[in-house]
Amino acid sequence: MAVCYHTDRAGHAGRQWDGGPGMPNRQGTHGAADIGGPGEAAPVTTGQQLERRSWAEPWKIKMVEPLRMTTREQRQEALSGAGHNTFLLRSEDVYIDLLTDSGTNAMSDRQWAALMMGDEAYAGSRNFYELEAAVREVYGFERMVPTHQGRGAEHLLSQCAIKKGQLVPGNMYFTTTREHQERAGGIFVDVICDAAHDPDNLDPFKGNVDLAKLEEVISRQGPEQVAYLSLAATVNMAGGQPVSMDNLRQVRELCRRVGVPIYLDATRLVENAFFIKEREAGYQDRSVAEIVREFCSFTDGAWMSAKKDSLVNIGGWLAVNDEQLFEEIRNLVIVFEGLHTYGGLAGRDLGAMAQGIRESVEDDHIRSRVGQVRYLGELLLGQGIPLVQPIGGHGIFLDARRFYPHLGQEQFPAQTLAAELYLESGIRGMERGIVSAGRDPVTGEHHRPRLELTRLAIPRRVYTQAHMDVVAEAVEAVYARRGEAKGLLMTYEPRYLRFFQARFQPI
Ligand code: F0G
Repeated sequence: MAVCYHTDRAGHAGRQWDGGPGMPNRQGTHGAADIGGPGEAAPVTTGQQLERRSWAEPWKIKMVEPLRMTTREQRQEALSGAGHNTFLLRSEDVYIDLLTDSGTNAMSDRQWAALMMGDEAYAGSRNFYELEAAVREVYGFERMVPTHQGRGAEHLLSQCAIKKGQLVPGNMYFTTTREHQERAGGIFVDVICDAAHDPDNLDPFKGNVDLAKLEEVISRQGPEQVAYLSLAATVNMAGGQPVSMDNLRQVRELCRRVGVPIYLDATRLVENAFFIKEREAGYQDRSVAEIVREFCSFTDGAWMSAKKDSLVNIGGWLAVNDEQLFEEIRNLVIVFEGLHTYGGLAGRDLGAMAQGIRESVEDDHIRSRVGQVRYLGELLLGQGIPLVQPIGGHGIFLDARRFYPHLGQEQFPAQTLAAELYLESGIRGMERGIVSAGRDPVTGEHHRPRLELTRLAIPRRVYTQAHMDVVAEAVEAVYARRGEAKGLLMTYEPRYLRFFQARFQPI
């Protein structure tokens, strides 16, 4: 499918799916990566309302937090002190923080009000019931337990639903997800479509499961040796790429036939639903909220890092339909997180999460959220910067292999790029390549992912379009001196999830 980019300098970027169903064309059509000025296209009408060429965030700013600019010398010192790992920088040494979109969102006044209304009872807090109702209404799951964040839920699900030696097929690994699956004795098997591993493949649903791969995994050792399908929507490590409803329906059919449950990582499902609305036939007139509900209806349960889609700074939950499994989880949550009505969170956190869940599925919110990511991506594409396409939901993933073609993967090109960008500008991104992929637990060898990416994740409702312009300029400056980069040497490698704490020095 051909993709047509169009960016409105004064407004926001958008992409029209040329030849496929799409959102109404709000910005006129330009050629690929053609950064055009405003004013070319007349407003077009959708079914419901007059759409303008430009649109804006559906909120205004009520409180601000000053940012600190640093000198290159200060950044050099901070970077050396951090072992060239952006995770080890102090946030006060960072100017624009694109390390992650996790827990870095700005809450609304309604969410802050919910904090003040926290019911801090140990058991049966009112906020628990608010959260339960929000999860039921928005995601459609009857029962859930709160967890302190996503990995708390991953831990519980893995411990309760995986037997030692069972396979856990998934649409690409995620770091903490796979770690918990392996700790529970599971063996992760990647069943994502091949397109996901190719940064230039423009397939609109690069998060899709490859049905043939899934079928092969199931028939290899029999369905009883498969714990569940671990399905993420969107797929973080592939660049925030979505799964189509059609793919999920087919996966559902296959899994039902053989009795393998589907558990969904719903961390960025709202962003996934936006892409379905935009790109999949039959969904243009459905609300994002309806699409989220339908998507969940094809699964047997879900876990959530509410620090992403749900617009809070901390929180998560786990929901499964199977009553026996839920009983086990509701019992075990007490051991690791806290009582089943607070799961490691304060009552006020539960209240803010309940409110955030409802805000997250508002169409205007999600359109501006993904629109801002796209705006940055299209600025960069206009400068010829290599990055994962289509542009995903939560960030820009720079293609470090093509950025630094002279560096081998053992020289950690994506880690190098994150370090160089910080040094240039004080902007912090994150490595998503060989360091993040870790080692095979059996052979001890590096996993060598095809994707060697530096992620610039955009927090929700935090930065302005002008910040995005500054980021684009900084990446362009690093690209201009790309030939000088020499790569890094890993000098300290932690045993678990090494990317968080590893240290490096320049070669
Ligand atoms: N699943 C996905 C898809 C995630 O992106 C994350 C976290 C988790 C689960 C775990 O959730 O952090 O609340 O324990 N991703 C963060 C990131 C760390 O920066 O992408 P958590």
